[in-house]
Amino acid sequence: MANQEDDFKKVISHAKEYGYVVQSSEIYDGLSAVYDYAQNGAELKKNIRDYWWRAMVQLHENIVGIDAAIFMHPTTWKASGHVDAFNDPLIDNKDSKKRYRADVLIEDFAAKLEAKAEKEIAKAAKRFGDAFDREQFVSTNLRVLKYREQADEVLTRMARSLESEDLADVKALIEELEIACPISGSRNWTDVKQFNLMFGTRLGATADSSMEVYLRPETAQGIFVNFLNVQKSGRMKIPFGIAQVGKAFRNEIVARQFIFRMREFEQMEMQFFIRPGEQKKWYEYWKDARMKWHLSLGMGESEYRFHDHEKLAHYADAAADIEFRFPFGFKELEGIHSRTDFDLANHEKYSGKKLQYFDPELGEHYVPYVVETSIGLDRMFLAVFSNSLREETLEDGTTRTVLRLPAVLAPVKAAVLPLVKKDGLPELAHEIIEELRWEFMVQYDEKDAIGRRYRRQDAAGTPFCITVDHQTLEDRTVTLRYRDSMEQKRVPINSLSGEIHREVDVKEWLKKASV
Ligand code: GAP
Repeated sequence: MANQEDDFKKVISHAKEYGYVVQSSEIYDGLSAVYDYAQNGAELKKNIRDYWWRAMVQLHENIVGIDAAIFMHPTTWKASGHVDAFNDPLIDNKDSKKRYRADVLIEDFAAKLEAKAEKEIAKAAKRFGDAFDREQFVSTNLRVLKYREQADEVLTRMARSLESEDLADVKALIEELEIACPISGSRNWTDVKQFNLMFGTRLGATADSSMEVYLRPETAQGIFVNFLNVQKSGRMKIPFGIAQVGKAFRNEIVARQFIFRMREFEQMEMQFFIRPGEQKKWYEYWKDARMKWHLSLGMGESEYRFHDHEKLAHYADAAADIEFRFPFGFKELEGIHSRTDFDLANHEKYSGKKLQYFDPELGEHYVPYVVETSIGLDRMFLAVFSNSLREETLEDGTTRTVLRLPAVLAPVKAAVLPLVKKDGLPELAHEIIEELRWEFMVQYDEKDAIGRRYRRQDAAGTPFCITVDHQTLEDRTVTLRYRDSMEQKRVPINSLSGEIHREVDVKEWLKKASV
């Protein structure tokens, strides 16, 4: 556990030190769960966004992209169910006046039981050494069984109470488990109340004419309300998809995992409109396609897993998460949801406008069903960044910190380094930069000894270093150094573009997603 926490702290401090992510308004001590992307972070985020957009929009003849406004007519959120059902159950401690998510307090309690079970297992593994049979121990040791059974009971009861909106029982469970406030240590709790996660604001200047609106909590609704506009103007035939990337806002109460759970974040969503009855087929299709997209980045198959939902959101008839191994364990990265005709049918009802499709093959009108893929851009950023950060011990016993970002996503593709700051080498380095910057993000770096510059670029995630030395003046060749293997080779300046292209060409990377 301590190790996980340390690893995560390293990710956060590395993100700050190398210009990726910083707290918003840091000079004012920050704003909780709001972050800014610095120079490298903005590039990495843009590259992830492009990688998604190309895979989803550019490579699919039947998917188009839109960019809807963040403000939407307030009735949108009544129709979508967010006004009534987009809630977290909250509880206040009367002594500390601190507010908690009731379900998180209970989940933390269950996690402690699991940690106790793990401790027993670790103790036994140490005692028995090589002879330790984990599977047998876990299935027979009474203490482990007891901890796990209790955790299971607690979570099942909580799920049942939340499902049936029995908030009194959620409070009763917190009291029975004797859960105390981490700040005051007291068990003096208020009742559990539902709290809506949407941010509200007012649109318009005067008190009379202004109207209460929400900052959108998901980008999906901007797609649903534009379904007919796009279908008609694009002459789209079912099945077809509409994609969108944009900001979403949620007043998250538990916000303690860096950019994993933010109050202002970005989503990359695609709604795929299909014939009613075909949802199972398309749901499976998109689960598979989205997993392939992830795997194309080469971060390792074992880092992902599917988690099928038992408790479904208010709009879904089937749902699965693609979970990723974050520094704090496997957690949701992307959701694939079979949303039926829930959204379009409700928008028809609330707007009084028909949102139907005429299917020329069937010769009938219907409200299409929808399968959605929804991924948080910031969460994907955290997945890529944390997976790439490594401490490596080299053959000579020294260590290096390297950010092994997939080259296609790296903010800066190559750094051009004059060996010394004289003899015309800086000028030649700038000449190379002028040539390469038409195709790639490149950077000039002349400060410090060459070894330190290599390490700095390794830690910043730059896949290539190009060193200009005295030989370059004579034969126009440079040293090309690869970040991951640290291999160095001598290449002519005019072949640099081809060498870099081979590693960063988005086409080659994305082809792996389509096999
Ligand atoms: N339109 C469906 C929808 O919004 P969701 O599961 O609530 O579904 C989809 O969100 C994805 O958005 C999540 O899988 C996650 O990657 C991202 N996401 C949700 N809340 C987030 C938050 N507070 N901060 C960062 N990313 C978030």
